[in-house]
Amino acid sequence: MPDAQAAAERIAQLRSELDAHNYRYHVLDEPSIPDAEYDRLFHELKALETEHPQLVTPDSPTQRVGSLALSAFGEVKHEVPMLSLGNAFEEDDLRDFDRRVREGLDLPAGDLFGGGVDVEYSCEPKLDGLAVSLLYRDGLLVRGATRGDGSTGEDISVNVRTIRNVPLKLQGSGWPAVLEVRGEVFMSKTGFDALNARQLEAGGKTFANPRNAAAGSLRQLDSKITASRPLEFCCYGVGQVQGELPDSHIGILEALKGWGMPISRELKLAKGADECLAYYRSIGERRESLAYEIDGVVFKVNNLAYQRELGFRAREPRWAIAHKFPALEELTELLDVEFQVGRTGAVTPVARLKPVKVAGVTVSNATLHNMDEVARLGVMIGDTVIIRRAGDVIPQVVQVVLERRPSDVRPVQIPESCPVCGSHVERTQLVKRSKGKETFSEGSVYRCVGRLACAAQLKQAIIHFVSRRAMDIEGLGEKSVEQLVDEGLVASPADLYTLQFEQIVGLEGFAELSTKNLLAAIADSRKPSLARFIYALGIPDVGEETAKVLARSLASLERVKRALPEVLTYLPDVGLEVAHEIHSFFEDAHNRTVIEQLLARGIELQDEGELHAEFAACATLAGFIDKLNIPFIAVTGAEKLAVKFGSLQGIIDADWLDLRQVERLNEKAARSLREFFDKPENAERARRIEAQLHEFGMHWQSEKKTVEGLPLAGQTWVLTGSLELMSRDVAKDKLEGLGAKVAGSVSAKTTCVVAGPGAGSKLAKANELGVQVLDEQAFLTAMAAYGVAT
Ligand code: IVH
Repeated sequence: MPDAQAAAERIAQLRSELDAHNYRYHVLDEPSIPDAEYDRLFHELKALETEHPQLVTPDSPTQRVGSLALSAFGEVKHEVPMLSLGNAFEEDDLRDFDRRVREGLDLPAGDLFGGGVDVEYSCEPKLDGLAVSLLYRDGLLVRGATRGDGSTGEDISVNVRTIRNVPLKLQGSGWPAVLEVRGEVFMSKTGFDALNARQLEAGGKTFANPRNAAAGSLRQLDSKITASRPLEFCCYGVGQVQGELPDSHIGILEALKGWGMPISRELKLAKGADECLAYYRSIGERRESLAYEIDGVVFKVNNLAYQRELGFRAREPRWAIAHKFPALEELTELLDVEFQVGRTGAVTPVARLKPVKVAGVTVSNATLHNMDEVARLGVMIGDTVIIRRAGDVIPQVVQVVLERRPSDVRPVQIPESCPVCGSHVERTQLVKRSKGKETFSEGSVYRCVGRLACAAQLKQAIIHFVSRRAMDIEGLGEKSVEQLVDEGLVASPADLYTLQFEQIVGLEGFAELSTKNLLAAIADSRKPSLARFIYALGIPDVGEETAKVLARSLASLERVKRALPEVLTYLPDVGLEVAHEIHSFFEDAHNRTVIEQLLARGIELQDEGELHAEFAACATLAGFIDKLNIPFIAVTGAEKLAVKFGSLQGIIDADWLDLRQVERLNEKAARSLREFFDKPENAERARRIEAQLHEFGMHWQSEKKTVEGLPLAGQTWVLTGSLELMSRDVAKDKLEGLGAKVAGSVSAKTTCVVAGPGAGSKLAKANELGVQVLDEQAFLTAMAAYGVAT
């Protein structure tokens, strides 16, 4: 136990550290350590102060909550202070709380056989966001404020008005003339991911977790920024009130709900500590599947008369407690960075960490994604870092604690040669193709050029090839694949089909029977569907869905191999980037050899055949001209050209005078078109693409069918969930008939989402982005309004 001198020194040190963290957390919205670490420092200080009460001073962080208001906002004095909550970490802490409540209320305690009186508690999730107060006068939202230090907060009225589920006006009647609603502003997990993705793309600042993102978004001086962020509000109580309210906490929340206030769907009543603990466990089990992050649950004595009787201790109510879950973020040390080589050769930095327990699991590795991420984090070997583990995702390094950087840190450097095969490591290039031009920039990924000659890539390629959703070869786990590669028995997926009994038997895990079983499983895999086979090849960016599209639309491996990138972009959901990946995969001589060997060694594709109509849908010559990306030629220009000349060759042959006669085609566009087709390679390529499209069964539809002038032209719709009154294909046809584009994923550009029962992430995303959503009935009504028979 430290003596008084040592205690005083440690107390001073803890106070200045906690003050600095408080400032970063509450004022700057940039905490530099995880909450769990803050709690530990805070508790250490509290314990020392309890032991040495003479050292407690009024300015100690234990004597107040929160921090100063950010000066740029106006100040708001809270009539009723905004308090914080005491914490329970263990079951016993919660039982102690319940005991204190019963003692405070003079209720009989339970005896050895239970008994006693059970106190009623309201149970709510503890949302991980930031507390705000919303003031309603005569039902109108007149002010919004942050908690600040509990007695003074910041005026964020303009900002809270941008939160979509905050009512600007209360519904119904009977609300108190003055009603201060309190609750949490937070960001859902999908909202957070979408925001970070947007920020990353725009080169902006990303956020370490949803709480920081919510805080940073709410306290923006420019409320337009706040408005663009996916913030939500959930109400959990009231502050000052002039008027009548029900006499229980849950009664109040339900009344608020009736007036249009969002409250938690998880709100429950529990009787006694056991039911509270059951609630804690049940929410804990669902923690990961909830749409938002929570750091615990909150129990509050439901009866308001009891609440008044119990009152407060320091700045915490005696009638409420937060029962915390294990923290998702912890501090640890970055011991080293190693580089892993993946299936496509990507060389990925992986953090080797001093083992640390995060939410119940010991973490010693975390992903660093790529070198851009390393640079963005500014992380160096030897740093203290914040590790975050949420859900099933691989633990991540979210932040460096610069204050704790030692002097002997080392930079993270990408190796020049592959750590596995020694081949050269090169930086990938990003190719941007637009208007006939290709521009190159540096990508964030580094790749080992060794391909299947690199044992790491070979192993991953084979693991993927044999996996259940690919060739589905049972009995070949990661360990066995490693052995086969390390023993030199397999140098490509095709070699699996030449393996002999004697080569396998005796390897670790392979006795006679398991060897026979493996050989049988390999033999059984010889007749895959075309889709499975394409997926199994492991073409970069080609997942199961794209593989299915390729198989369904082109219906033969030969056609998939030969398809030109521009032709592939006619397939549903295949963009130009993926199309180029597919094309260059099949152009590669080594890949061709492996495919030939596979076929020669007995692979028989099951469902090759006729082309599918899906491919041939709705293509026009104008659309094709537009796809050629000729500078200054946009859709309308392309349409005029198509109507005037009627064929690609006609357009290629058109001379300057012909072109000038095309209505509304300006000189610049005409010149650009001529220049483009004057280059023989451009004309030749366009002809090749068109010929291949025709060969694959696509013929130009009449130009009159173009979307211009149709009621939904320019709109993008998404269909999700199961439609019960018509098939999705029919719905798609109807929309396209009205000129809309039907896309597979929701983005800010989506006009409307039609969601049937069972809709999941797409619906959530639409809500997140504020995109209009129709159910099937509303969709039919809309279609009927356009005169489409339903
Ligand atoms: S009640 C006097 N209920 O947790 C009671 N707080 O540590 C005051 N929080 O500042 C708060 N969910 O930001 C309450 N269902 C909930 C909550 C909740 C999250 C936050 C709130 C508060 C902090 C207290």
